Amino acid sequence: MSRIVYVNGQYLPHADAVIHAEDRGFLFGDAVYEVCPVVGGRIIDEEPHLARLERSMRELAMQPAMSRAALGHVMRETVRRNRVVDGSIYLEVSRGMAKRDFLFPATDTPRTVVCLARSHSPDKLEALAQKGITVISAPDERWKRVDVKTVQLLAPAMAKEKARAAGAKEAWLVDAEGFVTEGASSNAWIVTKDREVATRHANSGILRGVTRMVLMDFLAREKLRITERRFTIAEAKNAAEAFVTSATNFVMPVVAIDGQPVGEGKPGPVTLQLRRLLVAAASDQVAAGSST
Ligand code: PDD
Repeated sequence: MSRIVYVNGQYLPHADAVIHAEDRGFLFGDAVYEVCPVVGGRIIDEEPHLARLERSMRELAMQPAMSRAALGHVMRETVRRNRVVDGSIYLEVSRGMAKRDFLFPATDTPRTVVCLARSHSPDKLEALAQKGITVISAPDERWKRVDVKTVQLLAPAMAKEKARAAGAKEAWLVDAEGFVTEGASSNAWIVTKDREVATRHANSGILRGVTRMVLMDFLAREKLRITERRFTIAEAKNAAEAFVTSATNFVMPVVAIDGQPVGEGKPGPVTLQLRRLLVAAASDQVAAGSST
């Protein structure tokens, strides 16, 4: 089945899904985006993702492209037209097309809206989670507003390439003071030997992950001790467990950092328990959606 892409009001065949050469997303990286998981044909955590998109746009003084309800409709329709059961949905909004100029164009310049859906195999993802992934450390070379989810992703792309060259799946980015900020496209977590679950505080240096936020609620309910604090690569290597969270991975165990095993070098019990909880919560959303 050919893929369908939403571009500015139209659902187009993949080959015809183009935007203008003078789009500010292309010229300046002047665009924001969201990725939501799709489980059982349903978009998971749609509201917090769209709320974060709105916040990203506000932070960049970008006018809304359309209402939250309309964006939700576009995402659901793109999922439906691509018959995605399990996968992800990508939504991008740029400041639009305008003559190349650093200064923002008039506020009524129509924003560019693109939406893509993609299928992933849940079995493959689960098999990967049972094995765990390895990560490398890399300097955090991103701009300072990483709390805004922009498409300026060259630094993370370079860090991920470095990870791939080392046979790893993800790069954990390290700030100038030697502390881990987050993964190139995920939030970074450790579980210490006395079962403290730690992840960096979200006031600076990281993207406030939706998965991170959902997981925090679970951690509180499971009575696990959760601390929002910084940690170094050395501490992470000595931790009992490590993992990453993101919309596309939920909770993914990290079994080695820079070639050194974490804990027993296999996915840890706390990590796997958290993964089960998160996957079950997604299934609950699917069940709740299908009954309405
Ligand atoms: N990335 N930190 C960064 C830098 C990210 O790019 C992401 C997500 C996260 C996790 O956020 P969330 O739980 O809301 O997915 C943290 C997406 C998946 C991507 O760029 O493809």
